Amino acid sequence: MTHVLVTGGAGFIGTHVVVALHRAGHQVSVVDVGHPGAHRAPPPDTVAGAPLRRVDLRDRYAVADALTGVDVVVHQAAMVGLGVDLNDLPEYVGCNDLGTAVLLAEMARVGVHRLVLASSMVVYGEGAYTCPAHGPVRPGPRAGADLAAGRFESACAACGAALEPGLVDEEAPLDPRSVYAATKVAQEHLTAAWCRQTGGTVVALRYHNVYGPGMPRDTPYSGVAAIFRSALAAGRAPRVFEDGRQRRDFVHVDDVAAANVAAVTATGGRTGWRAYNIASGRPASIGEMAAELARVTGGPTPVVTGEFRLGDVRHVIASPVRARTELGFRAAVHLADGVREFADAPLRG
Ligand SMILES: NC(=O)c1ccc[n+]([C@@H]2O[C@H](COP(=O)([O-])OP(=O)(O)OC[C@H]3O[C@@H](n4cnc5c(N)ncnc54)[C@H](O)[C@@H]3O)[C@@H](O)[C@H]2O)c1
Ligand SMILES: [Zn+2]
Repeated sequence: MTHVLVTGGAGFIGTHVVVALHRAGHQVSVVDVGHPGAHRAPPPDTVAGAPLRRVDLRDRYAVADALTGVDVVVHQAAMVGLGVDLNDLPEYVGCNDLGTAVLLAEMARVGVHRLVLASSMVVYGEGAYTCPAHGPVRPGPRAGADLAAGRFESACAACGAALEPGLVDEEAPLDPRSVYAATKVAQEHLTAAWCRQTGGTVVALRYHNVYGPGMPRDTPYSGVAAIFRSALAAGRAPRVFEDGRQRRDFVHVDDVAAANVAAVTATGGRTGWRAYNIASGRPASIGEMAAELARVTGGPTPVVTGEFRLGDVRHVIASPVRARTELGFRAAVHLADGVREFADAPLRG
């Protein structure tokens, strides 16, 4: 039996990971600080039967204590989302990067060599694009004036042609576009450096847009599916930004939990650092997600507002091939089924 420590185990994804690891027969310990940015009320004292230890990852003594007897760390703890404003910046860096640094130092000191990292699609910035004339290109951030004029698609910088979005794979360059994204890239780099210096193992899972039961309600830190769900629950139409045709890969939290179980197993048989897209492999537009949620809840039809946020990227759709071939992970939940269940599943307060 493997003893797994889950950080951020009281969070949306962490809770499902704890349940899945239990079911797979692992011994599971859980730490989480119950960060007020994530939890309006303090989290419960147990997660899926495991006692929740209130540990801030920046506290090296508490972290060292929690690592006793642990074989693998599954590191989910982080501040997520776009945040409110730049006053959030120190707390993002503190939780996500200083917290990870303390965790890695203590793992090395205590002698824990296997890590699964919850990374994110945000490390890529924009997805992959091709110009009919120039082949693969990497569009920069979109100009506010273009967005205000309703020009949401990026054009080729060399010839102005419309770009064709394609699947982003793990070899794509990293191009973080927000404070949160920058901290997730730093987590990847820190864990890679740790891996080289310790001879340890890191499996970095780049989750795409995760949705499902227990997702946090509408906050500056929550994902779009929860924002739509919260609007519909209040009897309001979901407000879809841009023209609603921006595409993402929505992956169900049960699939993400299964990917973590597969990743824990994978850390047993290898050394080194490797990243994986964790995605459904079936892209959908934001407008389709809103429409599907409105349909299954019988709520008001979404409104496409043309509003935009400068930090948003246009399309990010993922190649799921590497996780399939190397981790044996394949998403099982279809969007229609996942959304039907999500429509009346509890959200976190
Ligand atoms: N939700 C998504 O769509 C998504 C997508 C890509 C990646 N991720 C990653 O998945 C992980 C989990 O995200 P989530 O959506 O479950 O968010 P969440 O906010 O529900 O969970 C994160 C948990 O981490 C805890 N935490 C934060 N700072 C901490 C600290 N300093 N010490 C101890 N605990 C701390 C919080 O209290 C919270 O319970 C994060 O690493 C996030 O970057 C999420
Ligand atoms: Zn071109």
